[in-house]
Amino acid sequence: GVAGGVSFALTGEQRELRALAREFAEKEIRPKAAEYDEGQIHPADIIAKAHEIGLMNLHLPEPLGGPALPCFDGMLVGEELNVGCSGIGTSIGANGLAAGPILVAGSEEQQKEWLGPLVEEPILGCFGLTEPGAGSDVSGIQTTAVRRGDEYVINGAKMFITNAGPASWMVCFASTDRSRGHRGLSAFVVPMDTPGVTIEKHLDKMGQRATDTSAVAFQDVVVPAKNRLGAEGEGFKIAMQTLDFTRPGTAIGAVGVAQAAYELAVEYAKERVQFGTPIAMNQGVSFLVADMATEIEAARLLTWQAAWMIDQGRGRGATLYSSFAKRFAADTAMKVTTDAVQVFGGYGYMKEYPVEKLMRDAKLFQIYEGTSQIQRLVIAKEIFLPKG
Ligand code: CAA
Repeated sequence: GVAGGVSFALTGEQRELRALAREFAEKEIRPKAAEYDEGQIHPADIIAKAHEIGLMNLHLPEPLGGPALPCFDGMLVGEELNVGCSGIGTSIGANGLAAGPILVAGSEEQQKEWLGPLVEEPILGCFGLTEPGAGSDVSGIQTTAVRRGDEYVINGAKMFITNAGPASWMVCFASTDRSRGHRGLSAFVVPMDTPGVTIEKHLDKMGQRATDTSAVAFQDVVVPAKNRLGAEGEGFKIAMQTLDFTRPGTAIGAVGVAQAAYELAVEYAKERVQFGTPIAMNQGVSFLVADMATEIEAARLLTWQAAWMIDQGRGRGATLYSSFAKRFAADTAMKVTTDAVQVFGGYGYMKEYPVEKLMRDAKLFQIYEGTSQIQRLVIAKEIFLPKG
């Protein structure tokens, strides 16, 4: 297949980058993971440190002062941050999604205005696609943007928006022509302090609780027409092209959560003695762990493959692999974390032990950035109705 002959041997620089992320996860993220999860604390302090040592905004291009690292290198960092805590990892990584539409469709000037400052300071953006009534069905977006001279007036509501609370701006997808369905959507950069933008609610989640996820209302929000990304009607395509290259980042987060659960399960299985021997000596337990190791490696390689294809500029070929990776890694994380709780038995179900958090965290990977069912839909469309 397409993978033929690819070597994923890491360079010295890639190994160093991964080691830096691993150390950061161990020293800065792990110690705070339980507390930030319990209290739903936005990890502003950890984000600032990640920014300072260069673990954020990895993909920003050189002309903006960014490190311009390949998507593949982002996988090495993303896995380690999510081994530490996927709530905190998502808070750090979501800037990639926010910046996506500006990289895909923004002019040089727009990129300078909105992405340039991200290099200097730990500023957050957010990606405003989902609405209360339009999640999987993006073409059902109800938010409207009406042209008025040199401005647009935006009205509507956004739901489940990662980092909306702390964000400085949102890329907001709105309909500029309701009669044209998905071809009537357009994308706008909206500063969050614009009058009429309100954080309605910081949502109370099952897992990944250290990430801010908010509901946002737009009431007569006026933005200059120069804040529109691309032409009117290009919003749907911009959103899809963004998700094509951000889904591997979500997939690798799931790999990180699964890896964390696996490592804990192995340690526990070696230590926990029942019937006079460590439970690892029972095939009922050791086979669970063997499957975990196999499936995590498969998920990691599929995700690396998707990232590699993005770096090769494989277009819709990358769409297919991104969805392969997102679907498989998310479902793997759910299975592995559920089995890890099983290995820990009664203790695993208790908040005192770290595996129940991983199981709660894993669930979100099957839902956000396109559910596991939507990934199958994308895969099936690429198989039966390929667009080149
Ligand atoms: N690249 C370029 N163009 C694309 C494309 C892609 N990847 N995918 C579709 N298109 C084009 C199609 O070619 C088609 O073009 P025409 O207008 O020329 O016909 C057009 O877009 C419409 O495509 P479809 O007919 O396939 O559209 P659809 O309405 O059936 O929807 C879908 C497709 C895949 C289901 C899409 O709606 C989708 O991805 N839904 C899931 C949305 C999602 O992932 N939401 C998550 C939000 S982000 C989030 O969760 C982040 C967070 O906070 C962490």
